[in-house]
Amino acid sequence: MDSLFIVANLKSNKTYAEAKLWLDTFDRIDKNLLEQKKVIICPSFVLLQTFKTFISQNNLRVSLGAQTVSSVDEGAHTGEVNAKQIKDFADYVIIGHSEERKLLNESDPLLQEKVNLSLKYGLTPIYCVQNQDTFIPQGVTIVAYEPIFAIGSGTPDTPYNAGNVAKAIKTKGIPTVLYGGSITFTNVKEFTKESSLSGVLVGGASLEAQEFIKIIKNA
Ligand code: PGA
Repeated sequence: MDSLFIVANLKSNKTYAEAKLWLDTFDRIDKNLLEQKKVIICPSFVLLQTFKTFISQNNLRVSLGAQTVSSVDEGAHTGEVNAKQIKDFADYVIIGHSEERKLLNESDPLLQEKVNLSLKYGLTPIYCVQNQDTFIPQGVTIVAYEPIFAIGSGTPDTPYNAGNVAKAIKTKGIPTVLYGGSITFTNVKEFTKESSLSGVLVGGASLEAQEFIKIIKNA
């Protein structure tokens, strides 16, 4: 069986000092767990270097992801962080998260551009969909099903429904489907035991490293 994906989306949280504390705690994890599961941590852009250095100095078998990417390539685009720049630090990128869709009103063609540029520079998109009918750009191989009602609400979707949505998404040729929305260390197993789900995307419960370790352990 392919290893389970456990993705931490730290969102717009953690100062530099807080990130160092998070990493020091996370480093106490049983390293065997990191051999068995595919752990990906997605901090803010400004913390990617900190995470990358710590992970390499401590030989942690963990991958990094960004939380978004520019829809335009390198050049005169003030404020944008492009895929080529991100690739220096990360192998994955979250695209189409509902929080960003809401703030920035991202359109499907723009999301397709983000996917295209990520793939051009060797980043693997983790593409968020809000339901099974959400548009999925060409080239996407990992989708995270994240129903809006479940994000940060403490009320996850049922594992049964998440499993069914994952099955529907897989019929579109997507090999890897994750679930995200109010995952905790107490409910994670119910989702990861659904055969159509390949893992989870964790927001709030990843903010405490100790809690995130428990999620990895229980998944
Ligand atoms: P949550 O967030 O785990 O806090 O619900 C998940 C996400 O938004 O990716």
